[in-house]
Amino acid sequence: MTLQPARGALPRTRTTGRRTTGRRTAGVLLAAAALVATAVPASSALADPGTATAAHDRTTAYLNPKLPVARRVSDLLGRMTTAEKIGQMTQAERGSVDADPAQITHLGLGSLLSGGGSTPKPNTPGAWADMVDGYQAHALATRLHIPLLYGIDSVHGDGNLVGATIFPHNIGMGATRDPQLVAEEEHITATETRATGPQWVFAPCVCVARDDRWGRTYESFGEDPALVRRMESAIDGFQGTRTKDLARPDRVLATVKHYAGDGDTTYGTSTTGDYTIDRGVTRTSHRRFDAVDLAPYVTAVQVHGAGSVMPSYSSVQWTDVPGSQPVKMSASKELLTDVLKRKIGFEGFLISDWDAITQLPGDFATQVRTSVNAGMDMFMQPYDAPQFEQALAAEVQAGRVPMSRIDDAVSRILRAKFQLGLFEHPFTDRTNIGTVGSPAHRAVARRAVAESQVLLKNDHHALPLKPSQRIYVAGVNASDLGNQAGGWTVTWQGQSGNTAFPGTTILQGIQNEAKNVTYSADATAPMSGHDVGIVVVGETPYAEGVGDVGTGGHTLGLSATDRANIDRVCSAIKTCLVLDVAGRPQIITGELPKADAFVMSWLPGSEGAGVADVLFGKRPFTGKLPVTWPRSEAQEPINVGDVHYDPLFPYGYGLTAKH
Ligand code: GLC
Repeated sequence: MTLQPARGALPRTRTTGRRTTGRRTAGVLLAAAALVATAVPASSALADPGTATAAHDRTTAYLNPKLPVARRVSDLLGRMTTAEKIGQMTQAERGSVDADPAQITHLGLGSLLSGGGSTPKPNTPGAWADMVDGYQAHALATRLHIPLLYGIDSVHGDGNLVGATIFPHNIGMGATRDPQLVAEEEHITATETRATGPQWVFAPCVCVARDDRWGRTYESFGEDPALVRRMESAIDGFQGTRTKDLARPDRVLATVKHYAGDGDTTYGTSTTGDYTIDRGVTRTSHRRFDAVDLAPYVTAVQVHGAGSVMPSYSSVQWTDVPGSQPVKMSASKELLTDVLKRKIGFEGFLISDWDAITQLPGDFATQVRTSVNAGMDMFMQPYDAPQFEQALAAEVQAGRVPMSRIDDAVSRILRAKFQLGLFEHPFTDRTNIGTVGSPAHRAVARRAVAESQVLLKNDHHALPLKPSQRIYVAGVNASDLGNQAGGWTVTWQGQSGNTAFPGTTILQGIQNEAKNVTYSADATAPMSGHDVGIVVVGETPYAEGVGDVGTGGHTLGLSATDRANIDRVCSAIKTCLVLDVAGRPQIITGELPKADAFVMSWLPGSEGAGVADVLFGKRPFTGKLPVTWPRSEAQEPINVGDVHYDPLFPYGYGLTAKH
């Protein structure tokens, strides 16, 4: 078998990245032909002799939208070189090609992503669409003009985009028990994401969070797989319910993640940095794995047609198999191919997590080979795409990766691109760009915030509040958009403060309802003369294992400052209410008796006013706990169905204000 020269060896030709200003009706070939004229010298061996005829030959099957997708995939696959196929299996971080976008052409990249915080400057809807379209033009300059897939973590709205509508993180959406609302949320998220360029989101996380010490608990809809499955209406929100919806400007390809058992690992088994549980080992039997960890994927694939799946960094170790050792999900042929693709019938494509294969045993070539042969289809290789392509080409050349596996992977990827309509409309359709962060979108997010609030205590009818009451508010988290949004917001880890993106804080929501409000972050302002004290406690932003209990000093306990604020306010003001703005239950056993009322607000996102809506009775409290609330950290993991189950508040608990 003779391989085409690796793209990286090609003569480097500076191209002028085109900035498009609107939906292109010219389609793939005209844009590509223009770029080919500048990108690859006519004398080059790569100037496709067919370009001129292809540009005008509508009979080229893969370019004919009237033909069935399967026919188009087969025709295109048959035209591709091995190097071009491997290019389609390769995803790079945009930052690695931004200085020389012609790399996209030379490497024949199938996809780019924006990791958390990888944003254009300025970070505006128009700049996003221009950036993605600029990269797209380079993909279209390849010999066969295969358009690029652009992926992004729109996990609670398009969090990377300043001005986007930021929804409550999934744990709050799980508390709503409202599948219709989560579908509405993700339709809005899809609209705002696609209108600004990316056609693919790495969401929803269908993780089942079994141990609240996990830094990604807030990315989960809850601890009960049945609840997670109910909330997978999110996938319909992203993708629509018919295959042809994927080509619409208000839909994106969804990714269910992280397959599987990411939220079910054993504390202390993580081998990544100073993480303690994230990316750890799921020690379980096949029977329990199927019931807890795999069940959401069966629903995601067979009911909702999820277009892609992202295997987890974590490992599985079978307790029902004597001598079983931990196997990384990215290396598990049993779970990626035999179970997911063959048994469950997944026809989409698998995208590896960020650099995930480098955590596999062996050298890089071994890692590549192991994961491809296990069933991985596309590889998120943020900064080493050329090396990945060369390693895989060598493995194919040596016969250690069969071409049938390459063809299967590429067929799955191309199918998604055809279904998304990218060959007909590769550039951003900006029809909906004006709806980004619109009042209508924010109203839905505000309703989601209200429905996510869980009332855990309400003695002496402390709630609902009255607008005439003189209210004292304490706690940094009352007035910090960054803290109320949490991780995956403008940056990967998120950030405290009020300047990164527009929204309303919880305090602003309260001030909109009541005339007489005193705010004192550290509760040092005089408290006399107030009818109600509100202390807002909670966490500061984190993402992934950075938020694990044990990593960087994180615990489930309240901070000393929060405990002091509760003591000061609740001892001085007759009626005292505590709000917890956090990504998971915190240990409040000692403080709860000091408060008349307690509300779990989770991570509400940009529309903090939704919290005031339930505090003042404009909307009822309807939220229910999506995770068990422990009495102490030592009780973790503690989940509904445990034999010995004695939490502070059980899974599903939640009062209405009428109590
Ligand atoms: C991260 C996360 C994954 C995310 C990906 C791209 O490490 O594990 O959820 O989609 O990288 O940002």
